Amino acid sequence: MTDFDATRAAFHLPADTVYMNGNSLGPLPIAAQSRVADCIKNEWGTMLITAWNKAGWMQQPKKIGNRLARLLGGADGSVVAGDTLSIKVFQALAAALSLAQPGRIRILSDTGNFPTDLYMAQGLVDALGKGLCIDCVAPDAVADALDETVAVLMLTHVDYRTGRMHDMAALTEAAQAKGIVVIWDLAHSIGALDLDLAACGAELAIGCTYKFLNAGPGAPAFIYVRPDLSDQIKPVLSGWLGHASPFSFEQTYTPGMGIDRMRVGTPAILQMAALDAALDVWDSVDLADLRAASVSLSERLIQAIAATCPELILASPKEPSMRGSQVCFSHPEGYAIMQALIAHGIIGDFRAPNIIRFGITPLFQSARDMDHVAKTLGTIMKNRLWDEPKFKVRAHVT
Ligand SMILES: Cc1ncc(COP(=O)(O)O)c(C=O)c1O
Repeated sequence: MTDFDATRAAFHLPADTVYMNGNSLGPLPIAAQSRVADCIKNEWGTMLITAWNKAGWMQQPKKIGNRLARLLGGADGSVVAGDTLSIKVFQALAAALSLAQPGRIRILSDTGNFPTDLYMAQGLVDALGKGLCIDCVAPDAVADALDETVAVLMLTHVDYRTGRMHDMAALTEAAQAKGIVVIWDLAHSIGALDLDLAACGAELAIGCTYKFLNAGPGAPAFIYVRPDLSDQIKPVLSGWLGHASPFSFEQTYTPGMGIDRMRVGTPAILQMAALDAALDVWDSVDLADLRAASVSLSERLIQAIAATCPELILASPKEPSMRGSQVCFSHPEGYAIMQALIAHGIIGDFRAPNIIRFGITPLFQSARDMDHVAKTLGTIMKNRLWDEPKFKVRAHVT
């Protein structure tokens, strides 16, 4: 059984704060501070450029990729870390299109997808100039929209606004039965759910590590390629570190073997050090225990808020199996309510137009935290404590 008291102790959590936003930016793992300091002082500071070899910097993206693969249910050598998720969306979609059946022109996604996924897809489609189009249907309509005109199905597993979760295995199977290549964005899934990518059989998956994995702002993203396909992909982002022999400095590009070809340029080593330290916490976590704890905390929060704040409408699915690890409510004054909550030491966030979001992260949250959130929110709603001009001024980041 996972010891969640031990995992809680692994984080720096400010006093008098209940952190309900680990779904957006995870808190600081205590070990990350000394790991990054060590990387700066003893590797960069002392070894200088020799650290690329001596400290194994060059191997970090793949070594960390293997640690991520375990959390994804993927095989060793199927994942590499690096770049940002927006870049990985572009790279994955380009790879998927290169695997797609000739003559198919539709990229199918849904209206709950995160905007950058759709923006990057549009940028790629425009650059390719092959007459491809992106169709976004309602999340519930995806299964019915799968047909032989679709080249690629590109979805985010858990909706960033509502926490609505797709049935990854069923949609992958249905899509592949129609010859469609499948990409999953697992930004809101890795570190939140007990994933089994290998069993699901999707061709590609991508995600970030600054949310549930707690690797820090701007932490590296990752890409998964199903092992039988990685040698077939012709990388569009053909950077030198994805080359078969980067230090031969050849004039022409030859892709590296397997997942190596999905590397692009120089890895962000300080962020990799933070990510590596953040992943240590996961060594003692059973993902089935994590999911069970997440469902239990979510149910408790939903019931408690229904009792204290009847005017808030649940925007997440009621059914736990349809929900990722976040609980969301809608209210026309959602932004001001969240600001009032933050002023009371409870940090969640807001997504336009009217969604109050709470991330559920059993690694460092307790049942008592859920009760405290519901009670404080009840006080704020009952006394209209949100109804102050200072809570209505929109900050740049919401
Ligand atoms: C599903 C999804 N994709 C992409 C992103 C952002 O990508 P990037 O890390 O490049 O900013 C987010 C950010 O929250 C996200 O939720």
